[in-house]
Amino acid sequence: MDFSSVISPTLAAHAPTGVLVDGRWSPAAGSSTFEVTNPATEDVLLDVADGSPEDGARALDAAAAAAAPWRRTPPRTRADVLHAVFRRIVTHTDDLAALITAEGGKPLAEARAEVAYGAEFVRWYAEQAVRHDGSVRAAPAGGGTQIVQRRPVGPSLLITPWNFPLAMATRKIAPALAAGCTVVVKPSSLAPLTTLYVAEMFRAELEARGLPAGTVNVVPTSASARLTAPLLADPRLRKLSFTGSTGVGQSLLRDAAAGVLRTSMELGGNAPFLVFEDADLDDAVQGAMAAKMRNAGQTCVAANRFLVHSSVADDFTDRLVVAFEQQVVGDGAEAGVTVGPLIDAGAVDSVEGVVADAVDRGAQVRTGGSWPRGRGHFYPPTVLAGVPRDALAVTDETFGPVAPVVTFDDDEDALALANGTEHGLVAYAYTRDVGRALVLSREIEAGMIGINRGIVSDASAPFGGVKHSGIGREGGEAGLEEYLETVYVAL
Ligand code: SIN
Repeated sequence: MDFSSVISPTLAAHAPTGVLVDGRWSPAAGSSTFEVTNPATEDVLLDVADGSPEDGARALDAAAAAAAPWRRTPPRTRADVLHAVFRRIVTHTDDLAALITAEGGKPLAEARAEVAYGAEFVRWYAEQAVRHDGSVRAAPAGGGTQIVQRRPVGPSLLITPWNFPLAMATRKIAPALAAGCTVVVKPSSLAPLTTLYVAEMFRAELEARGLPAGTVNVVPTSASARLTAPLLADPRLRKLSFTGSTGVGQSLLRDAAAGVLRTSMELGGNAPFLVFEDADLDDAVQGAMAAKMRNAGQTCVAANRFLVHSSVADDFTDRLVVAFEQQVVGDGAEAGVTVGPLIDAGAVDSVEGVVADAVDRGAQVRTGGSWPRGRGHFYPPTVLAGVPRDALAVTDETFGPVAPVVTFDDDEDALALANGTEHGLVAYAYTRDVGRALVLSREIEAGMIGINRGIVSDASAPFGGVKHSGIGREGGEAGLEEYLETVYVAL
């Protein structure tokens, strides 16, 4: 297909834009819609159904009605649905990548990588769907048998973010379905189109096999809390999975407490990227680019703080500046662009504020730092040197292509700096010393640690954080556990 800066008329004509409830697409109750725009051009792409609490209730009705038949559907049949959706996603890579780029801004090569990454969750959980292990043993004291079995938790609300509209949806939908749970998905209003397109693939596969239509329901909305609060209060809902900011996650957790829901929360990060004096600096810069520049720095696992040993800080910073200056900022649909726009004008304001704060506190802008405001929400790759430890760029998560460099003098200081945050999603460290790497992997307070690697994400590995970065894991065997209940039968 022809990748233009907006989605092609053909794709626009067949991309779903409604509410999906019980296997049928429909307008929202009251027929209201909201606009989805392209962050690179600010053009309106499509109008999408603006789901109301009434639509949410209908979706939960459908998920609750489908719960028992889907739970009783043989695991092999559930796996077949997932395998078929995996193949559909791969077959439609071009359309999906075009949607991801159009609504989220990331360059097409990255959008295609997201399609591959997101498809892997579906394949991995297709393979896991038939492996829900339980156990049977004689009671140690005798006189009985203990059967431990696994059951799906039940209807699940999946709230997904805009930064990976395909991968974050499949990372939740696939394990839920593999476990035997039915779902109501609430995609971000900033980028719902890709998720809706994938939802249609699930719908079509369920329908083709005569399986419960209400297994996958999707309700886009511009008023998230209005839609999700009644769902969280409904006793039929048994599980909440959320990816987004720590603040919103905390508020959802408060609501989920009332129903004592199972929760999986993938929240904010403030990833340290540690470069020790013995690091291979070429590798470290390559890893830094991967950890920082994916989706223009708009990922929870983006390297947020570059903590560099003072003896190599100048050398590392110079090399990082060179790599940042090789990036091409622009519309992700255009050939050669490596850094797309930020998601909206508010995101640019926020990044500008973080950089201004660092400069006010004495940091030097080594490259980037300003971009003419005009059409599209762009911000340039920016390296800040000599950043004080109390600057916002160090203490807060920055969703943008900004790399603040902070120096340290010894391992103890490095560790204290790395751990000196309420977040603990991921940390990266570059060192050639295996002993040091092992100490770091024991002592860094994070759910994921990349040693001499700038990317840790993998569908088969447990993704998630500690402290304020979240609860639970997605991906790998652990991701399936999140949708299973343990039931013990004494016989
Ligand atoms: C995220 O930013 O929340 C997810 C990134 C990833 O899966 O790698």
